[in-house]
Amino acid sequence: MMMRNPSEKYRPFPQVNLNGRRWPTRKIERAPIWMSTDLRDGNQALIDPMSIEAKLEFFEMLVAVGFKEIEVGFPSASQTDFDFVRKLIVENRVPADVTIEVLVQSRRELIERTFEAVEGAPQVIVHLYNAISPSFRKIVFAQSKEETKALAVEGTRIIKECAAARPGTHWIYQYSPETFSMTELSFSREVCDAVAQMWRPTSAHKMIVNLPATVEAAMPNVFADQIEWMDRNMSFRDSIVLSVHPHNDRGTAVAAAELAILAGADRVEGCLFGNGERTGNVDLVTLAMNLYTQGIDPGLDFSDIDGVRRVVERCNQIPVHPRHPYAGDLVFTAFSGSHQDAIRKGFAQREADTVWDVPYLPIDPADLGRSYDAVIRVNSQSGKGGATYLLERGLGFTPPRRVQIEFSHAVQKVADASGAEVSGEAICALFKREYFDAQGPASRDASTLDFDGRHVKLPVSAVADEAHAQAVAAAVASVASVAIEVTSFETAATAKGETAVFIGCRIGDQAMRFGVAVNANASQAVADAIVSAVNRVRWAGRKEVESEAVEA
Ligand code: KIV
Ligand code: ZN
Repeated sequence: MMMRNPSEKYRPFPQVNLNGRRWPTRKIERAPIWMSTDLRDGNQALIDPMSIEAKLEFFEMLVAVGFKEIEVGFPSASQTDFDFVRKLIVENRVPADVTIEVLVQSRRELIERTFEAVEGAPQVIVHLYNAISPSFRKIVFAQSKEETKALAVEGTRIIKECAAARPGTHWIYQYSPETFSMTELSFSREVCDAVAQMWRPTSAHKMIVNLPATVEAAMPNVFADQIEWMDRNMSFRDSIVLSVHPHNDRGTAVAAAELAILAGADRVEGCLFGNGERTGNVDLVTLAMNLYTQGIDPGLDFSDIDGVRRVVERCNQIPVHPRHPYAGDLVFTAFSGSHQDAIRKGFAQREADTVWDVPYLPIDPADLGRSYDAVIRVNSQSGKGGATYLLERGLGFTPPRRVQIEFSHAVQKVADASGAEVSGEAICALFKREYFDAQGPASRDASTLDFDGRHVKLPVSAVADEAHAQAVAAAVASVASVAIEVTSFETAATAKGETAVFIGCRIGDQAMRFGVAVNANASQAVADAIVSAVNRVRWAGRKEVESEAVEA
């Protein structure tokens, strides 16, 4: 049960004492170094960890996307990981510009086993971690600060010794003070400084200090303060690649990573689509695409986001949420009428090769390999803009506004009746049935108009204009014995070069109706549009006239 006074159970996370913080006024100018930990941290969080085959498929996709640093496993903890790392190396599957990374705890036998796993690789990041926060020191390990620091330093010393014994590999050392985000900053610095003191990085051969929000415990501004504090106060700073590893317990890992970059982080570790322990690691897809939409090349290629997603879903056996930023099935789809209207106008006014400015779409779906097909989908929440967009795409022409309004009633009726989405094909089929195939007393062949079995010669004209429409309407009126007034006349060229004709007709005392027709021969299209309008009128007593049109 939730507490009425949560302050009895939970304490606010302490603010960082940081004077003149610089990160709030900075801008991100370039992408950080990315490190994918999908095959390690992500894999450790799966119900069914990946097989070697799945890891390989994932690894190859990460390489294709452009990752240059990939944590491939925890070989001292898992035989599958050990075998996978061996496979990568023995089968020469790691491109020259990609560095594999392996995680290890601070124990000699585990470190030796890890070196065994990566034997023969040209370049490796060896990643040591130990938890250093007060609750881990007290509850989990019953260790003093000195013992915690000594464990990190000793692990570093053993790794240094193992690396020195294998000069054929270019060794990069990474240290993570696990639970950094919940540790006293002065102690984090003390441990990292002691580790660096042991490793002795140089500006030519840097080590990586990776600061994890193992559990995200505070707002992103607090994490940014912690990172800026470390950036200012750590020793060997010029010889260190400052990395962050945010988890997403509060749902703000992306914000935390972005503010951490402002605060001085050079590198970000995370997983695609935010897989990882509990609520996941920071989502590298969102981070990368956020940069892209600010005009910054992320250095990662997500131009086939659906292909990437398929691999991740297959390997992780976890679906990507339909509303996941940039990648979800529904994130480029508008159902609501006002959104559809704005998007349609945005597309209509868009000039090629100009800055992207389409309302409600923060990114061009095409940049992620998405088509525009799903941008607008129609259901009972939609308006005329949505149906018009789908008509434009399906039939290749834009009906005039008043025809759009008239037709939207027919679409709304179908959507309300089914309570479900009405597809683009269904909308085009409805338009055809409503206008092109409207059944009624009128029809025409090449030279004759027929109304209820009475024939009249079809007027001919070299031009398809309103005068011609009136001549055809008068011909029908003469055999139908009813007044027909042409109230509006518009044409449009279709994508196939045919002519679409839209004619508004008031017939007798009936409400005005539109007739629509498309024909390569424009004057025949005029005749067909009159026939369409005439047939759409509810002729009293005629049972064959059952148009689905509602009163306009
Ligand atoms: O979340 C974490 O702290 C980790 C470390 C091993 C870096 O995954
Ligand atoms: Zn982690």
